[in-house]
Amino acid sequence: MRSVIDKLAQTSNLTDEEFALLLEELSEEDSEYLFAAARSVREREYGKDVYLRGLIEFTNYCKNNCYYCGIRCGNANAQRYRLTEDQILSCCEQGYALGFRTFVLQGGEDPYYTDDRMVPLVAEIRKRFPDCAITLSIGERSRESYQALFDAGADRYLLRHETANPEHYSMLHPKELSIQNRKECLFTLREIGYQIGAGMMVGAPGQTTAYLIEDLRFLQDLQPHMIGIGPFLPHKDTPFKDEPRGSYHLTLQLLSILRLMFPKVLLPATTALGTIHPLGREKGILAGANVVMPNLSPTNVRGKYLLYDGKICTGDEAAECHGCMEKRMERIGYQVVTSRGDAKIK
Ligand code: SAM
Ligand code: FES
Repeated sequence: MRSVIDKLAQTSNLTDEEFALLLEELSEEDSEYLFAAARSVREREYGKDVYLRGLIEFTNYCKNNCYYCGIRCGNANAQRYRLTEDQILSCCEQGYALGFRTFVLQGGEDPYYTDDRMVPLVAEIRKRFPDCAITLSIGERSRESYQALFDAGADRYLLRHETANPEHYSMLHPKELSIQNRKECLFTLREIGYQIGAGMMVGAPGQTTAYLIEDLRFLQDLQPHMIGIGPFLPHKDTPFKDEPRGSYHLTLQLLSILRLMFPKVLLPATTALGTIHPLGREKGILAGANVVMPNLSPTNVRGKYLLYDGKICTGDEAAECHGCMEKRMERIGYQVVTSRGDAKIK
């Protein structure tokens, strides 16, 4: 197994059979070897720096009905909210004072946020925070809309592909949604000039090793700047409420595999990873991740942006989350930095 890991570290690629071996047969000892290999590539490329993203969950309205997601439109128990433009700007201000230089505006696919509303909002953030990156994560839109938001000052776009396999995609989503459109959106965003982020849920219901390998091949084709992965976690008001959670260990192994495949990519240790294990984010960093995304949303709405059960940090103020993350990273010998944290990729 170690020779396979060495090959991945040296060539950033493996055959499907070798990937399958890594994903299915890794012993605990060999996992440590894999984590160490990924860590050394991460430290070569990014040192011990951890980039911060301030996450602003600005709407939990969504017109989609993804089977795994707690804010799907079919969940009548979700308490819906939208932040006002003033509230969003004040999250940015608070975040800026704490040292954040990237703001991630994330939300459901909320039809209220037409371009007429989103474009001026992005332009205002761009004007007030010229040295910050603006990341959007608001789902599938038209090319014209992506272009208008880019022209208004958005730099980056997160749109996880969720799963690259069409059959698997249709097991996770209603028929109105297609992997073809999702992939097209990603290539369009890239063409427009965004730094793009894709990624999958680890252990989503129905996932197989073969599907995960398809995800890795799709990512090789797309060459994103960021790859967001986290374990699937069930939400009590979704069709997948009784499905088992994704594997913590497999998520860590995949983070390391991704670091070795894409040495310069931005790789977050996600909230879902911190939810499945109390030290998940620290372990994620030690497995090769280099980004954390503390929450900047106002405390009174945090408990409403529930994609899955048990989400962490729903009661904390932005400053508490920031301080907590600083300490967590220091404890493992890393430091959060005040910088936009762009990928070292063209
Ligand atoms: N609406 C935007 C979109 O579709 O890209 C952004 C918001 S969406 C809630 C953000 C991500 O949350 C999804 O891409 C998905 O991977 C993740 N997610 C949703 N439900 C989840 C669950 N039950 N467990 C883990 N991750 C989940
Ligand atoms: Fe729309 Fe989850 S179903 S954000």
